[in-house]
Amino acid sequence: MSDPKKLFIKTYGCQMNVYDSERMAEAMAPEGYVTTEVAEEADLVLLNTCHIREKAGEKLYSDLGRLRPLKLARPEVKIGVTGCIAQAEGAEIMQRMPLVDLVVGPQAYHRLPALARAGGRPVDTDFPAEAKFDLLPERSGRRGPTAFLTVQEGCDKFCAFCVVPYTRGAEASRPVDRVLAEARGLVERGVREITLLGQNVNAYHGQRNGADVGLGHLIEALAEIEGLDRIRYTTSHPNDMADDLIAAHRDQPKLMPYLHLPVQSGSDRSLKAMNRKHRAEDYLRLIDRIRAARPDILLTSDFIVGFPGETDADFEATLDLIRKVGYGAAFSFKYSPRPGTPAAEKPELPAEVTDARLYALQALILDQQHAALGAMVGRETSVLYEKPGRLPGQMVGKSEHLMAVHVADESGKVGDLVRVRITAASSNSLAAAPVL
Ligand code: SAH
Ligand code: SF4
Ligand code: F3S
Repeated sequence: MSDPKKLFIKTYGCQMNVYDSERMAEAMAPEGYVTTEVAEEADLVLLNTCHIREKAGEKLYSDLGRLRPLKLARPEVKIGVTGCIAQAEGAEIMQRMPLVDLVVGPQAYHRLPALARAGGRPVDTDFPAEAKFDLLPERSGRRGPTAFLTVQEGCDKFCAFCVVPYTRGAEASRPVDRVLAEARGLVERGVREITLLGQNVNAYHGQRNGADVGLGHLIEALAEIEGLDRIRYTTSHPNDMADDLIAAHRDQPKLMPYLHLPVQSGSDRSLKAMNRKHRAEDYLRLIDRIRAARPDILLTSDFIVGFPGETDADFEATLDLIRKVGYGAAFSFKYSPRPGTPAAEKPELPAEVTDARLYALQALILDQQHAALGAMVGRETSVLYEKPGRLPGQMVGKSEHLMAVHVADESGKVGDLVRVRITAASSNSLAAAPVL
């Protein structure tokens, strides 16, 4: 038998890309590829890219520059660009970067093996009619106790700043049966926690027993799988928080008390300009309903600062909303104009205004994050061990609220789900001891 060929994948961007990278590695396994962490020893290098902000694109071109010596030393090495930049700029990448051998958009990953075999610098950025996931091989990689599972792809929302509807196409959901089958397969491979993924995961809808069901019902169906102990989902749009999903937070103990619900801004003017299709007040009422269903739920969000036209008053309204909600954490980004989006036509704010706003918002969020971590001290929670800690006798995992926890547990093993009491909080993690 010949030596296996080596595949190196670098993943940029969101969890959906992490999931896609796993599936691409699994799709290349029957072709004789094993994955490597070392780009220099690879026979095939895939850069699975993100187009969400300008910086993401700059990273791709600097990483391609870094691969030049490898390609010069071993011209037979193939270099592929996949993901959202591949979708958005496929032909341009080929023109600008002669070292790139193939470009494969997110809807064409099932054709990756054939494209990697083919010569002639193929670019495949079609949005095919066939169901990509059904044509990819079944899950096969070695697994830890947690896994991602994409159930929904694409976006029809067209927020004025965002490229995702263009790079991932229209909203589409995978059938319930397929999701359940994949989840069962993951659990058989040792997975105890599954995070359901979608660019708009709570827009999920599928058929079950002849009826159209939403994400809440899908979660209830998944919860029946024995050995699956924890379910999470991300990312959600406020307008798609349906009643069945809120009810699942109340009724389903396997659904973790954590929700990432991006709001982007607390100003009605900005929300309108962003085409988010709800007001700040709608979001706050929604949070009230979610908290009524699951009082200990931890909320996180994404924010964009410096969106075109954002005034001091708009920004104050965002800080005000953050104070009202009280988040466990949040991602915040400086607005980045993206080619082809409506907001990119509008004049940008001065950089120093955006910088100052980002700084103020992050300070407020950090205060809230510290408060949320501090409030856990003395409380009981469960932790799913993901890896040994740096100290001897220590295990590291996530709490129900997705907080990182270091547990002093001599006999702990990866994959154990353990009741612990939180003993201390630091600025971004917790310490705990098992409850005896
Ligand atoms: N589907 C999700 C997240 C999509 S992208 C949602 O609707 O919220 C993740 C985050 O990137 C977004 O929530 C937004 O905060 C940020 N983002 C998207 N486009 C951006 C842009 N042009 N500039 C800065 N941040 C952006
Ligand atoms: Fe982008 Fe808006 Fe769709 Fe989220 S909902 S992916 S921010 S267009
Ligand atoms: Fe980036 Fe595409 Fe995800 S643009 S955030 S990799 S959907």
